[in-house]
Amino acid sequence: MSQESSAAGYAGSASSVAHGLWSSRWVFILAATGSAVGLGNIWKFPYITGANGGGAFVLVYLACILVIGIPLLMAEVMIGRRGRKNPAGAMAALAKRAGASRHWRMVGGLAVLTGFLILSFYAVVAGWALAYIPAALSGSFTGLTAESSGALFGELLADPLKLVLCASLVLLATLAIVACGLHKGLERAVRYLMPGLFILLLILVGYAATTGYFGRALEFLFVADFSKLSGETVLVALGHAFFTLGLASGAMMAYGAYLPEGTSIAKTSILVAIADTGVALLAGLAIFPIVFANGLEPGVGPGLVFVTLPIAFGQMPFGQLIGVLFFVMLLIAALTSAISISEPSIAWLTERFGISRLKAVLTSGGVLWLLSLGSVLSFNVGADFTLFGKTFFDSLDYLTTNWMMPLGGLGTVLFAGWVLQQTTQREAIGIASDRWFLIWRWVLRYPAPLAIMLVFLQVIGVFG
Ligand code: TRP
Repeated sequence: MSQESSAAGYAGSASSVAHGLWSSRWVFILAATGSAVGLGNIWKFPYITGANGGGAFVLVYLACILVIGIPLLMAEVMIGRRGRKNPAGAMAALAKRAGASRHWRMVGGLAVLTGFLILSFYAVVAGWALAYIPAALSGSFTGLTAESSGALFGELLADPLKLVLCASLVLLATLAIVACGLHKGLERAVRYLMPGLFILLLILVGYAATTGYFGRALEFLFVADFSKLSGETVLVALGHAFFTLGLASGAMMAYGAYLPEGTSIAKTSILVAIADTGVALLAGLAIFPIVFANGLEPGVGPGLVFVTLPIAFGQMPFGQLIGVLFFVMLLIAALTSAISISEPSIAWLTERFGISRLKAVLTSGGVLWLLSLGSVLSFNVGADFTLFGKTFFDSLDYLTTNWMMPLGGLGTVLFAGWVLQQTTQREAIGIASDRWFLIWRWVLRYPAPLAIMLVFLQVIGVFG
């Protein structure tokens, strides 16, 4: 115990100097919320809710966030703060202190790599949002039908130059922010971008409330029809809970590494999860009334935001303005997430090789850009190049979401629940009440690993 706490003090001071700490717990909450709120909330949550029948799915999703998501989020922030390094370094240091195998750092390394790969295609999708801003502005949505809207999106995907330009701009913005460091880069960005995001969201929900279909959207989101629920829906909900909180990819560990001592990990994590869920639900309340008011289908899948919504923007009053605001909001949400997804690899490069932040950004930026190029080309000229029957973009998405994230997540919960000693956990997590601490610990040790294994078995097709 005494050996552990002195080691913690040592690790704490060593690298908080290298990277600095968040200036306050509120900036951390803003940054972590910025990480959590992204394409997952505004693009993915509404369409998977639509495709999985609405209310019942939402209920299961909320349960997943509460039961698995929050405890895991707390665990990741805890590992970061306790280790005070990039995910791989933090896990190595903590494993050493606990007398466990150094190989645990591979779990952190896997998380860093996962985030890195995710960013390469996340930036491509964020690029679509960027491309849709001028489209909305110039009135390209006016008079769109289901076919012509599909064709408009198809045209974008078929245009490698435009896609490369947009993805590169997103990457450039992300890395420029990250290059400026914790205080001048990340903190400054989230201080401006997050309030902007919330204001835009509220404007859009306010507009949706005037369409006359708000009640119908509420019903769609909150009235549960359990006949629409299947085992698979439950697993989709759990997988999405991971994605939306940005777990298992090092992002929250890296952000946790800069969290000042004395800030309650439990309270901040709960706040972040509430904000993230709130934004997802509000995004649904902004999108579905517009979809219903224009006689469109909520269950179309990934095209909901890029194909269905533009049709609505093209035929509704103030559609041009609302369309621009919507895609600006989507872009901001994606940008604050992209920043967090890149931080673990930047921190890893600087700490592992002792290079400057700028050098780390340039190195990883180059590789990221090449990878994003692969994703871009897989929608057009490179569509025939496939790995295991999937395009480059789909393979990366599949590999990271279905394999790397569950494996990394599993490793992380096992580490947090079984390797770290109870005294370390208790000290680190800062939950005053014994009962809540024990519940948290129990969740990490049993239900969380089990649930992740189930998701994993489902995605690799064990259940058919
Ligand atoms: N949570 C973000 C979203 O909902 C995306 C994100 C941030 C993410 N960090 C991540 C996704 C790490 C996977 C892994 O869009």
